[in-house]
Amino acid sequence: LHQGRHGRTAYHFQPAKNWMNDPNGPFYHNGMYHFFYQYNPHGPTFGTGKLSWGHSVSGDLVNWAFLGTALDPTSPFDAKGCWSGSATTMPDGRLAILYTGLDADDVQVQNVAFAKNPSDLLLREWDKPSFNPIVPQPADITRNNFRDPTTAWLGHDGLWRFAVAAEVAGVGSTVIYRSADFITWERNAAPLHAAPGVPCWECPDFFPVVEHGTEGLDTSANGPGVRHVLKLSKAANEDYYVVGWYNDGADTFSPVEEGERGGDVRNWRRIDHGHLFGAKSFFDARKNRRVLWAWVDETDGSSYDGAKGWTGIQSFPRALWLDTEGKQLVQWPVEEIETLRRKRVALLGKEVGSGELHEIAGIETLQADVQVVFEIPNLEDAEQLDPKWLQDPQKLCAEKGATVEGGVGPFGLIVMASGDMQEQTTVFFRVFKHDDAYKVLMCTDLTRSSTKEGVQKPVYAGFVDVDVEKDKCISLRTLIDHSVIESFGGGGRTCITARVYPEHVATGSSHLYVFNNGLHAVKVPKLEAWELATASVNVEDDGLNAL
Ligand code: FRU
Repeated sequence: LHQGRHGRTAYHFQPAKNWMNDPNGPFYHNGMYHFFYQYNPHGPTFGTGKLSWGHSVSGDLVNWAFLGTALDPTSPFDAKGCWSGSATTMPDGRLAILYTGLDADDVQVQNVAFAKNPSDLLLREWDKPSFNPIVPQPADITRNNFRDPTTAWLGHDGLWRFAVAAEVAGVGSTVIYRSADFITWERNAAPLHAAPGVPCWECPDFFPVVEHGTEGLDTSANGPGVRHVLKLSKAANEDYYVVGWYNDGADTFSPVEEGERGGDVRNWRRIDHGHLFGAKSFFDARKNRRVLWAWVDETDGSSYDGAKGWTGIQSFPRALWLDTEGKQLVQWPVEEIETLRRKRVALLGKEVGSGELHEIAGIETLQADVQVVFEIPNLEDAEQLDPKWLQDPQKLCAEKGATVEGGVGPFGLIVMASGDMQEQTTVFFRVFKHDDAYKVLMCTDLTRSSTKEGVQKPVYAGFVDVDVEKDKCISLRTLIDHSVIESFGGGGRTCITARVYPEHVATGSSHLYVFNNGLHAVKVPKLEAWELATASVNVEDDGLNAL
């Protein structure tokens, strides 16, 4: 099961070989999901000057067939690379891709490509019209930062819009372009957003969400009962978002949370507090939901030497919607993951005493879906939170790790543990008293995840915006898949994705535990863990047959 896998995942999206980075242009059309990604067909490294768009299709977002490349750097307007962008499905039946080309002079410009035959099931062929670029680089762009167009949407005036990341005279901005015909585009004078402090944000995503409910909206939806989410990515590092109101007449956007959160993007909420980047969502008309993808890069250092033959995976697709408070997103693995569930084990009404550890045995835990609810019997012993920690949950977690006894917590899961516990990753909560309320901290601690040298072993952390006083419970869902641990705290309000490279999995079995190092026992009304089957993901030989 494990030998020779080199951390290859069983049900996360990754190419059979070569380099992959940002998700590009996901969409649903004619019963088929299409997924594109930054891809170097020539090897497992970034491929400066060579990037293509890889293309895979799926009937269920779980099993994927690789179709080769959809866009290659073969034209003067993209000669040095077909960089990130998005797809738009139009009411008239056309299918368009907007993407950044690195032109023959290395200048970032925006291009369009159309599906040659929109009724073709696989949509393998994309036309790059010779009139590209549709948007050459404007004169006020500094340091060649002008990239990553979003999916286009229609305003009430019938004009198309897309947003693109741009460093405008040194200021990291998100700029809007408008068009009547998708070919001639004009820039709106005011940016949708501008944030001094960071010169260039990347991979903007801009989409509507319903104020109440979990269903998704087409990217052009707007009006009463609708809010918008602006998501920006900070250079190969972190994704931030804010919920706000969008005025499609002026093309302006105002965050609902002003003050501390509104201005500086770095104070916005995080899509994920772990290692995840370049998130991009699409409206899935098949299930009436919005689905988010994101790149999860390698952190093993050695990945760039080509030994594995592949580099980079995508997060498992997540449905997302607006929380009832209207300020934060809730993210949850798409329900199709359940088709992979095989053997199930459960704990019902178990009490985990202070200092106790309980093994979840009976399933293969290297590819598993674990869902657990912790019931907090009393909050009285919660530790007082020093307000200085509010800005630095990561440091707080590093200081108060899984083994540091607390008042309420730490409790959670120990995943991918070797028999001798030398290697283990902890995913846990700790509850603090803060003013007259409580703050829940969620952590994924990789410091002991691997005995291997040169592997990044950080501590990831974020606060979970839930009301433990009212709920008395906190939930955790963790997807384990060989070299990735994706965790969803508080029903998906706080997410932490981590890459791990334990050495014991090559030769020994891996263990899963629930633990509690709080002062008192914690109740586990329900824990369910499923072994997950291996999905057919871009398998070279039987690709299309697997669908
Ligand atoms: C983000 C990014 C994008 C760019 C692409 C190139 O990871 O730098 O801004 O379009 O990667 O692969």
